[in-house]
Amino acid sequence: NPHEPELLAEFSSRVYNASGPRTGSSDALQKVGASKSSAILTKSATLLPQTGNPLPRTYTSPTFSINSEGLPNKSIEYYIDGETIRESVGETGKPYFVSISGKSLEDNVEMMKLICKAPGVAGIELNLACPNVIGHPIIAYDMTQLRTVLKTVKSLKLSLPIGIKLPPYFDFIHYQQAAEIINEYNSTIDYIVTMNTVGNTLMLSPYSNEPVISPKGGYGGLSGPAVKPIALAQVRKFYSLLDSSIDIVGVGGVQSGQDVYDMVLCGAKMVQVGTCHWIEGANCFDRIVEEFEGILERKGVKDLEEIRGKLKDW
Ligand code: DHB
Repeated sequence: NPHEPELLAEFSSRVYNASGPRTGSSDALQKVGASKSSAILTKSATLLPQTGNPLPRTYTSPTFSINSEGLPNKSIEYYIDGETIRESVGETGKPYFVSISGKSLEDNVEMMKLICKAPGVAGIELNLACPNVIGHPIIAYDMTQLRTVLKTVKSLKLSLPIGIKLPPYFDFIHYQQAAEIINEYNSTIDYIVTMNTVGNTLMLSPYSNEPVISPKGGYGGLSGPAVKPIALAQVRKFYSLLDSSIDIVGVGGVQSGQDVYDMVLCGAKMVQVGTCHWIEGANCFDRIVEEFEGILERKGVKDLEEIRGKLKDW
């Protein structure tokens, strides 16, 4: 069975990079590989290269970031090229994952087939949550589309593990609807990655009567420490709703070992770091992993399964 649910449990640590920040080139990915990140994940690819939205398209503050990059990337061919993978992975032997975010389902199908033919890729992260492409709504907010996508992915009988990147949900009924659909495809979907940025948020510049970023009238995806409670809610809720064969990768506002610990307590098997990687660079993985290991040691936790999902009720 190519869909190996335990794949994610075999990594050296539970922390790796999120797709997006510092993931667009083999140079950047090589730095991730050389750090304590336990895997290497690319920027979301499209079929053809893209330069993305006009600048300024990112904004950072100590508590949050906003971006509307518009999927700048070097194309799927680049990310599955043998040279890119060799340069990125180096001698590390770390699993190399490719994120895709096609302009259409047909593009995603074509990219998934290409990835499965490329040697050296450990798995696919299918992004169903990009809020920043003008005229393209967030796929996984449309339950009919979500079902169609998963049905199509199932029909492909892919030879690689596949995860889907989800947007944040806010109403319990929406989590239930999404989880019900994903559970229907539990033999196809190996893991979910939750969450993407909180879509279409707006921040104003204190210096001018303008938004802080220029594309889409200033609307962009929110990330960073401010979104941690939203991300914990996603992980916890999906942990309670999804079949146990579907692993949960937690992402959103993680910048410390304690944040990783909290994600695991909510049920995450793996944890990704995005905005903090953007701000701090790949050294963040060394720091965060060391902090996390320190916490586990102090608490006497030998096996993460002792704590995973064990958030206490009052
Ligand atoms: C971009 C942002 C996202 O949140 C995403 O999932 C994919 C792409 C971007 O703006 O490049």
